[in-house]
Amino acid sequence: MHGFTDVDRQPDPNSWVGVLDRLAEEPFYRAYQQRVRELLDPTPGRRYLEVGAGTGASAAHLRDAHGVSVATVDRSLTMAAAMRARGLTGCAAADAHHLPFRTHAFDGAWADRTVQHLADPHAAVTDLVRVVRPGGRIVLADPDYDTQVLDIADQELARRVLRFRADALLRNGTLAHRHAGLLAAHGLVDITVEPRTLVVRDPTAVDNVLGLRSWAATAAQRGALDPSEARAFEDQFDEAVRTHRFTYAVTFFLTAATVT
Ligand SMILES: C[S@@+](CC[C@H](N)C(=O)[O-])C[C@H]1O[C@@H](n2cnc3c(N)ncnc32)[C@H](O)[C@@H]1O
Repeated sequence: MHGFTDVDRQPDPNSWVGVLDRLAEEPFYRAYQQRVRELLDPTPGRRYLEVGAGTGASAAHLRDAHGVSVATVDRSLTMAAAMRARGLTGCAAADAHHLPFRTHAFDGAWADRTVQHLADPHAAVTDLVRVVRPGGRIVLADPDYDTQVLDIADQELARRVLRFRADALLRNGTLAHRHAGLLAAHGLVDITVEPRTLVVRDPTAVDNVLGLRSWAATAAQRGALDPSEARAFEDQFDEAVRTHRFTYAVTFFLTAATVT
């Protein structure tokens, strides 16, 4: 499973704080996270919740830019400690499936790159909807790994490695294009879906974080790929970088809706 499924059980939990810090510096992430916050329609003085808040950077932006109050939840004690160390109050170490808040406690809530890691997205959305008042906003954002493309020489091999990433390395790697359906099933209205495509041409930047080059080796370790195919993937990956053709893309979906 992905490290963000259970940060505290990773060999070096604090390194995952570093991963979020590096991503937060990437222009693509900064831009789409700003849009996620706009989609909440934040109103000064009101109260918002981020579930799976990580370091709390986006929640702090919302609080500071819009004069709202924010609460955050993350199941990881490491992340909750990082949030507190950065001056966020109102952080709870809690699970998205069992939010420690009363019904209709918030004017809006969001989950950014969290639903992809959850054991039961439907149950978690049920609880997310419960804690937002009627008329309040909910925003879900995730990459959808069904949308991936990668230019290496052997396109069939590329597809197999990307398929492994989508299906085996994440619990819900291909759910984001179904978030609208998930929210509709919970009775939400005014549902909008905005795509944001991350295009990686310099794999030393974002890719050091995504770990794309290592996906084939992981697939081989788990018996999903022959070791010789994993080596071929890495060779072709390096060749694509050397010849300046390297291109990887994946689309994120930002799904927003209003609670009834
Ligand atoms: C990819 S990080 C995203 C963090 C933050 N939303 C951001 O945009 O930077 C996913 C976060 O979800 C948290 N998480 C994973 N499973 C969770 C669960 N069941 N309940 C609450 N948080 C969870 C992880 O600990 C991690 O901090």
